[in-house]
Amino acid sequence: MELPFAESYKIKMVEPIYRSTREERERWIKDAKYNLFNLKSSQVFIDLLTDSGTGAMSDRQWSAIMLGDESYAGASSYYNLKQAIKSIIGFDHFLPTHQGRAAENVLFSVLVKEGDFVPGNSHFDTTKGHIEFRGAHAIDCTIDEASNTELYHPFKGNVDTVKLNKFLSENAGKVPFVIVTLTNNTAGGQPVSMACLKETRRVAKKYGKMLVFDSARFAENAYFIKIREKGYENKSIKEIVLEMFSYADAMTMSSKKDAIVNMGGFIAMNDAELWRQCSKFNIMFEGYNTYGGMSGRDMNALAVGLDEGTEFNYLETRIKQVEYLGNRLKEFGVPFQTPSGGHAIFVDANKVLPDIPKEQFRAQTLAIELYLEAGIRGVEIGAILADRNPLTRENRYPDLEFLRLAIPRRVYTNSHMDVIAVALGNLFERRHQITKGVRILWEAPIMRHFTVELERA
Ligand code: F0G
Repeated sequence: MELPFAESYKIKMVEPIYRSTREERERWIKDAKYNLFNLKSSQVFIDLLTDSGTGAMSDRQWSAIMLGDESYAGASSYYNLKQAIKSIIGFDHFLPTHQGRAAENVLFSVLVKEGDFVPGNSHFDTTKGHIEFRGAHAIDCTIDEASNTELYHPFKGNVDTVKLNKFLSENAGKVPFVIVTLTNNTAGGQPVSMACLKETRRVAKKYGKMLVFDSARFAENAYFIKIREKGYENKSIKEIVLEMFSYADAMTMSSKKDAIVNMGGFIAMNDAELWRQCSKFNIMFEGYNTYGGMSGRDMNALAVGLDEGTEFNYLETRIKQVEYLGNRLKEFGVPFQTPSGGHAIFVDANKVLPDIPKEQFRAQTLAIELYLEAGIRGVEIGAILADRNPLTRENRYPDLEFLRLAIPRRVYTNSHMDVIAVALGNLFERRHQITKGVRILWEAPIMRHFTVELERA
């Protein structure tokens, strides 16, 4: 008999979690104004709010913490990280930042100005935020297949390079760079193929444009290339990563994802002049060039995290766990974005709760119901997040209403995945009894999803 698959690590340190009663959860979620961001983590049994900064560091990373050098300038930790970025990603120059959006803030301060257009594949909220904040526009050129949740496509995160080419042919004068998000978080943690990266590079170059990677989940992307793209099956993840970044001019990184640290980010590039321009803003917003928003110990842990995060065995364990959850959900008929993503399962709330009017926020209602059912905290990627049209102040209702279940790295076991699958299976079974959603009591004028207050409709 073939031996079954098992995790490529064992557990050295644990943290107790509390399995609450439904009565407790009814009270807590009401007190939280039906907004899961307002829950205390102690009120959550399985926390799938995000995979960002929530991973478990390894013994090697914790040892590196003890060797951190906290010198203001020229710390050895900075050079450790510089070396890791050069050898794993390939860029000569980098600047540390406190997290991914800070990297965007610094780089975009140099590159983006009012009236610009930045095309790419489903920009992440903060990326879009930093573009729009500067009076510029994010143009989504993701392939159409991404919006059909039932359709299988091996690289659903791809840029539609025909759309991109058309946009550039009409607007090149107002485009500072093209951005590709790896993996495509908004489309469901879906990867971008190497062929697409190569072609995107070719199209961008044709118009003399820089190509920037938003790299938060670049290693998971490399895993999918190895598993799904012809010609890469015998390459190591590290070889694939180097080839991926050979097509980019610069990158922003949220180290809280694939580099498996709790806080940190960076910008990297080959052009020394771009580095110099970024450094001015980095010193102002983040910190001096050799620490920029990170402590020495954290840069040390990050250097090790980049190495571990690009190991095949780790990635296989990681992505197979997400896939395991997807397969269990399939058993119960629960519809989600297929194939399952690298970091998360995106449950299709339009199909799970079809009897709730869309004005009563289906995905948010599903998030609340899942919390009540089993103490599991997911996050709404639907109409509340989509917010209002800034001009008309009308609610925007996106075609897709997702409940994202983001899986933290090296944190939960497949028994936890079983609980999640059964809980959602139970909800799916009694979906026609859930006919009432929520309505808004109070909301902030921007980024409302974090602080919105709701009541039962
Ligand atoms: N880019 C992508 C693709 C992201 O998913 C995120 C964060 C960022 C940039 C910003 O990085 O949080 O370090 O400032 N995503 C988290 C999430 C918050 O839950 O998906 P950050």
